[in-house]
Amino acid sequence: MKTKRIVLFASGSGSNVENIVNYFKDSQRIEIAAVLTNKRHAKVLDRCDRLGINAIYFNRHSFLKTDFVLNVLKSIRPDLIVLAGFLWKIPEDLILSFPDKIINIHPALLPKYGGKGMYGSKVHEAVKANNEVETGITIHYVNENYDEGAIIQQAKTVVDPDDTPETIAAKVHVLEYEHFPKVIAKLLAEN
Ligand code: GAR
Repeated sequence: MKTKRIVLFASGSGSNVENIVNYFKDSQRIEIAAVLTNKRHAKVLDRCDRLGINAIYFNRHSFLKTDFVLNVLKSIRPDLIVLAGFLWKIPEDLILSFPDKIINIHPALLPKYGGKGMYGSKVHEAVKANNEVETGITIHYVNENYDEGAIIQQAKTVVDPDDTPETIAAKVHVLEYEHFPKVIAKLLAEN
């Protein structure tokens, strides 16, 4: 059976990247072909080094004004492109080149707390400020608008009155680690 290739995009710590790499490390059928990052000193690069994963850096100019990323992706021919804590909007030409092959994880229950500027700790701070009693994760397809593509899966967790943005983030990460690799595996089994 053909090996399926995943390309991951990440901008920060990369704990989801590490979790996904570990989840598939013994798979004969699914490989992490590369991690692409827009942050030259992102912690995810140290993780890739340690995990033996090919990492590729690009800057804003090459992302928005050149075909650099498109050409990298075309050479890898990924079966799935996974945004795992990637904070820039994906340009339309990339979306059109990989229809239904780009997915994102968002650390809240979309459509709540989505859109431009809503990422990472900012999301959890807003959830806390609004006294939400629950939050969660949304895994969705990527379209040309931030956080608006079709939802694939959501999972919820309780927000207690004494939770802080940090403890909310920790609860959300638990959900991400549990569900994201399984959703990826399921999508690759289907395509
Ligand atoms: C994750 O919680 C992910 O859901 C979020 O960034 C975090 C990255 O953590 N993504 C967004 O906010 C996208 N709008 P990680 O670098 O440790 O995987």
